[in-house]
Amino acid sequence: MYCVKKVHDDLYWVGGSDRRLALFENVFPIPRGVSYNAYVLTDEKTVLLDTVDRAVSGVFFENLGHVLNGRPLDYVVVNHMEPDHCATLAELVLRYPGVTVVCNAKALAMIRQFFTFDIDSRVRVVKEGDTLETGAHALTFIMAPMVHWPEVMVTYDAASKTLFSADAFGTFGALSGNLFADEVNFEAEWLDDARRYYANIVGKYGTQVQALLKKASNIEIETLCPLHGPVWRRNIGWFVEKYQKWSTYTPEDESVVIAYASVYGDTENAAAILASKLADAGVKNVKMYDVSATHPSVIVSEAFRASHLVFASTTYNAGIFCNMETALLDIAAHNLQNRTIALIENGSWAATSGKLMREILGGLRNCTILENTVSLKSSLKENQLGELDALCAAILSTMPGMQPVSAPAAAANDMSAMFKLSYGLFVLTAREDGKDNGCIVNTVSQLTSTPNRVTVAVNKANYTHDMILRTGEFNASILTQDTPFELFRHYGFQSGRTVDKFEGVEMPRAANGIVYLVGVANAVISGKVAQAIDCGTHTLFIADVTELRTLSNDRSVTYQYYFDHIKPKPAPVPPEKKGFVCKICGYVYEGDELPADFVCPLCKHGAEDFEPLK
Ligand code: FEO
Repeated sequence: MYCVKKVHDDLYWVGGSDRRLALFENVFPIPRGVSYNAYVLTDEKTVLLDTVDRAVSGVFFENLGHVLNGRPLDYVVVNHMEPDHCATLAELVLRYPGVTVVCNAKALAMIRQFFTFDIDSRVRVVKEGDTLETGAHALTFIMAPMVHWPEVMVTYDAASKTLFSADAFGTFGALSGNLFADEVNFEAEWLDDARRYYANIVGKYGTQVQALLKKASNIEIETLCPLHGPVWRRNIGWFVEKYQKWSTYTPEDESVVIAYASVYGDTENAAAILASKLADAGVKNVKMYDVSATHPSVIVSEAFRASHLVFASTTYNAGIFCNMETALLDIAAHNLQNRTIALIENGSWAATSGKLMREILGGLRNCTILENTVSLKSSLKENQLGELDALCAAILSTMPGMQPVSAPAAAANDMSAMFKLSYGLFVLTAREDGKDNGCIVNTVSQLTSTPNRVTVAVNKANYTHDMILRTGEFNASILTQDTPFELFRHYGFQSGRTVDKFEGVEMPRAANGIVYLVGVANAVISGKVAQAIDCGTHTLFIADVTELRTLSNDRSVTYQYYFDHIKPKPAPVPPEKKGFVCKICGYVYEGDELPADFVCPLCKHGAEDFEPLK
């Protein structure tokens, strides 16, 4: 039976989720499963954007047939030829023999490698900037080599401002009914998997991801449709910012991750004592991982998150403990950069793991490996606690957030201290002579409970201010974290003197006859002004609460949350890099000059197939 989701009026998700697969790509554990997303556009022409893994082919073909509803399938766009998205391509062609396969030249070569069906009679090869007209929509193809394979491209629909982003912006995790990222608690429940997916699948190719982000910054995106995980239609900037950090190897958090390898618990003990000392010094959220109990993909992902990494390993077979060595080689293979690293070694007769770990990690770009490796002989002794103290101090000295606040920064009149205050955000509504108006305020708070009174300070420049001053009544709708930026723009960036903010909208009214917001508000407080105090630029209204309604259990938005998650951020400007890009696979060589005998480490083409990085 089909199970489809509508993305837009003429765009449907027709993918499926797999909760049975233990190892994605036969290597990455996925306890939360994975989704394989495919999308169908039902324009004058019908277009399928990618297919799915064989594991969900049954429901995929039911979904596709249901959405097409008897119409032929005109096109299938192959953004990515990896079998988790293309395993069903041959069966698709059998079921829909009239379909035209739209792909780039590199994907065409791979289709010939993977399949034996007749591709040449039904292929339309596209290149950077080519467009496929489908009626009301026009799909433009943007090459994204090495995000994650050389043939990857993404597809942009300007009409709906939708980017079909292939593996980019994907995540591990099966979908459970909620297709959209704003319908799940993404930061709390999905971000770790999204980071683990990114770091392990494309973490090595930060430069190529940067190239794609640069192209994407030139187009307007309102919907982001990846090949794995939720679809994005809100707060896209928040996720793009994560990609900016991950692809430039910039730590997300100033924090310490300690990965340890311990056979009998003594190395673990030293790691735990260091963690405790760091915590005592004020470092929050220190994380410890036993490399024997933690999959390397988690260690890689955490290394992409945290600014400071500690590796503590016993010596084993005169080398690094095997699971630690695997984790370190995996980190090195993923091109991690810009970290501070500390080491602890252990050995009962000849400790070598510190030196060997330093050799592996010494190849990481722009990483500082602290000098003072703590060396244990079998177990930590009382007289070595000072060495752990010194290591702790060395780590702290490289954490800007842990430095004592200097006297000048703490001086009087530091206005940034005002930004430490916490506020909510509210739509303050009033009504006068049959006209409704409202504005955004952040100053509603309870004054007393007996009698129940609130205060709100309103800027005199606001039309709502004048209405409340004259009528003595208002409603304060308490906004939630789901409030879109558009609402803040609507009520906060224009004046009720020149615009009717409630034109054409029906909203409920409280007993005082004043409108209040629903859907984006979790409660409304009605107030009757008892006192108005002139405070210069603002009037402080002290009001008796006349009515209270709880509207939902959604979390109230704070000023801080608004700035962190709702207000769009300017797209960061990627750092300028000098180098040469392989025209065949997209590999980037960084440097002023490309050696004449250079051979691409990915596709093995020579220097003649490189061009300067633009
Ligand atoms: Fe989801 Fe690179 O395949």
